[in-house]
Amino acid sequence: MNEHVPNKDLQPLANSKKVFVKTYGCQMNVYDSQRMTDSLGESGYMPTDTVEDADLVLINTCHIREKAAEKVYSQLGRLQKMKRARAKIGRDLMVGVAGCVAQAEGSEIIRRAPVVDLVIGPTTYHRLPEALERAKSGEKVVETDYAVEDKFEYLPQINREKTISRGVTAFLTVQEGCDKFCTFCVVPYTRGSEVSRPLTQILTEARRLVDAGVKEVTLLGQNVNAWHGHGPDGSAWGLGELLYHLAEIDGIERLRYTTSHPRDMDDRLIEAHRDLPKLMPYLHLPVQAGSDRILKAMNRKHTAAEYIALIERIRSVRPDMAISGDFITGFPGETDEDFEATMRLVETVGYAQAFSFKYSPRPGTPGADLPDHVPEEVKAERLERLQALLFSQQTAFQQSMADRTFDVLVEKPGRFEGQMVGRSPWLLPVIIEMKSNDNLKIGDIIKVRITKAGTNSLHAETA
Ligand code: 5AD
Ligand code: SF4
Repeated sequence: MNEHVPNKDLQPLANSKKVFVKTYGCQMNVYDSQRMTDSLGESGYMPTDTVEDADLVLINTCHIREKAAEKVYSQLGRLQKMKRARAKIGRDLMVGVAGCVAQAEGSEIIRRAPVVDLVIGPTTYHRLPEALERAKSGEKVVETDYAVEDKFEYLPQINREKTISRGVTAFLTVQEGCDKFCTFCVVPYTRGSEVSRPLTQILTEARRLVDAGVKEVTLLGQNVNAWHGHGPDGSAWGLGELLYHLAEIDGIERLRYTTSHPRDMDDRLIEAHRDLPKLMPYLHLPVQAGSDRILKAMNRKHTAAEYIALIERIRSVRPDMAISGDFITGFPGETDEDFEATMRLVETVGYAQAFSFKYSPRPGTPGADLPDHVPEEVKAERLERLQALLFSQQTAFQQSMADRTFDVLVEKPGRFEGQMVGRSPWLLPVIIEMKSNDNLKIGDIIKVRITKAGTNSLHAETA
């Protein structure tokens, strides 16, 4: 073979265009970006990691905290300059804004940033290829009406190559939207009300993932444990029943789900943690605050004692369960005493991992209109104290792995020769130092012994 002749299979088609997708926010956005990239592939757009190469730039935005919208506008300003520079050399640049800022701001985005050709909200992504066609013909397109049709029906097929390039772990969306209306949160407004994906679609996608070599599936949803559907005999199913069913699929070795609400942890789901070895012992169960007064004002619909009792029940059936959580400091009306209750709750539960934020008023949410907003510096001080405690728990959890032996899923080669990176049941990455006779392949599940548990990484050898 002549090595100077490039392999034409690896070359993009001469007339193919490129799309650069920038993703902000949660795993749901990561999943959506992937799906948008797939569906644009069917319209002739190849993905690129370099914005300069792109013919289409799609920003998948997050609206949950801070001045997310402002960040989007400053990025759009940079794209405006890029578009002008390109016009001089006769090359076009299309710009699309997707995600929760798109949903919340709609046509306001095009008014403020005329560089934008297309605004598309999360419930209408299946209309993207068609919307893009209209945008290409010069129309300024805004697609933010809540879709009446089933968006899940229109997701593009994923083929083996696309999935393999994503590795042996994959997300599978089973539910979207939220009806809980926590008073700080914008999700029920940007993602719409709760919709569960039908069982048959979930099973089809799960089998396709398995065929493509995926071993670990994480079920995704804003309120994933509110998933509800019907079994083959028409009986009502919840997430617990769904997990029992997925665990029976040969080839699925590990199951996870995220994000859950404490109110939807029903008995069947807890039984699934007791009965299913494939269901990994890691649960992201946000509580937000430890004071009953604040929990009530947040409309969380449970008390601190109820949350702690729930964790105890889960740990009584699965003693090695690692708990992760989300916290907000400085919700309106939060006193020093309320905050101390959050610190006490954290001490009681013991978190393996956590995400914590200063309260950020979101326009249009009830929290934003409450009296007694907490000064920024108080929010920041509390956040610092909370994060120090959470960090010490996280470190202790990591270090408790020293000398332990457990299964990891081999995910990818390590940074250095002779290393592989695996994932523990508790989501922690593990660097496996291979012995000369080890023959590890990506996708293997193997027993390792932890030889070194540092603050940031775990090292192991095959056991
Ligand atoms: N301010 C601060 N944090 C917020 N979150 C959601 N809305 C806000 C807000 N307005 C946090 C919550 C949630 C996580 C995804 O983001 O902790 O669980
Ligand atoms: Fe937001 Fe609460 Fe719904 Fe979670 S449960 S998405 S925090 S409203």
